[in-house]
Amino acid sequence: MTILPLKLDKVWFKAPAKDNRPAMPLIKEMSFELAHGTRTIIVGPNGAGKSLLLRLCHGLIEPTEGQIQWAQPNTAKRQAMVFQRPVMLRRTAAENIHYALSLHKIDKAQSIDIVEDVLSKTGLRRLADTPARVLSFGEQQRLAIARAWALRPEVLFLDEPTANLDPSATHQIEELVNTLHAQGTKIIMTTHDLGQAKRLGDDILFLHRGRLLEQSSCVAFFEKPQNDIAQAFIKGDLLWWKRGVGARKGPKHSR
Ligand SMILES: Nc1ncnc2c1ncn2[C@@H]1O[C@H](COP(=O)(O)OP(=O)(O)OP(=O)(O)O)[C@@H](O)[C@H]1O
Ligand SMILES: [Mg+2]
Repeated sequence: MTILPLKLDKVWFKAPAKDNRPAMPLIKEMSFELAHGTRTIIVGPNGAGKSLLLRLCHGLIEPTEGQIQWAQPNTAKRQAMVFQRPVMLRRTAAENIHYALSLHKIDKAQSIDIVEDVLSKTGLRRLADTPARVLSFGEQQRLAIARAWALRPEVLFLDEPTANLDPSATHQIEELVNTLHAQGTKIIMTTHDLGQAKRLGDDILFLHRGRLLEQSSCVAFFEKPQNDIAQAFIKGDLLWWKRGVGARKGPKHSR
């Protein structure tokens, strides 16, 4: 029985009040449903709330108000996340994956087979015994995917998995994402790269300043976004100091 769909109902996340600063709403009244079988891509400008939304969905932070519901209980081990800046232990590439598997109580014999399998699928077998922290950025991203893949998640969250990667490393990651999708893993991914969103996406969530402004199929979103701000974003002229719907006034010193 699948844990999907994932349903959010009027979810708010507010950073707690601190010193003289009041509680700040960062995710605002967000409601949507994500189904099995599609690659969902979350786009939006810096600070829109994309990473926070993934963290909320993955259960790393709790909503301040509203509900996040999966179709089944106890979903923690059925979902995995690849972070914007993956954290590797001071161990070899292979040991990093073994460690993740040990947390899921997979026994050593089985773990050896799984590690071998995911390292070869991600093209990292020859680097199995290399300390993870000396791997290149792109290799570490692939290792992070291998580590998540080893856990056989039903849902995989990926936060900007190709930020700062060159075109060839980006291509490798996109192929891995597609392989996982083809194997039945639900992909929920953020990206800044609109070309990538077009290449990989089946459906799109567009976030701006903590709000979900549009949810549509990828084709509809790129052909004719319904929302003005989404249109400006796609055209590349979403200027944060521009006045208008949902945009704040510029600072006094802006020209
Ligand atoms: N714990 C926190 N306390 C206060 N503000 C926070 C906290 N976490 C995130 N924020 C703010 O919430 C907003 C959304 O952050 P988030 O990291 O989700 O953005 P993003 O869409 O992922 O941006 P980027 O494209 O740069 O990765 C930002 O303005 C950020 O500064
Ligand atoms: Mg982010």
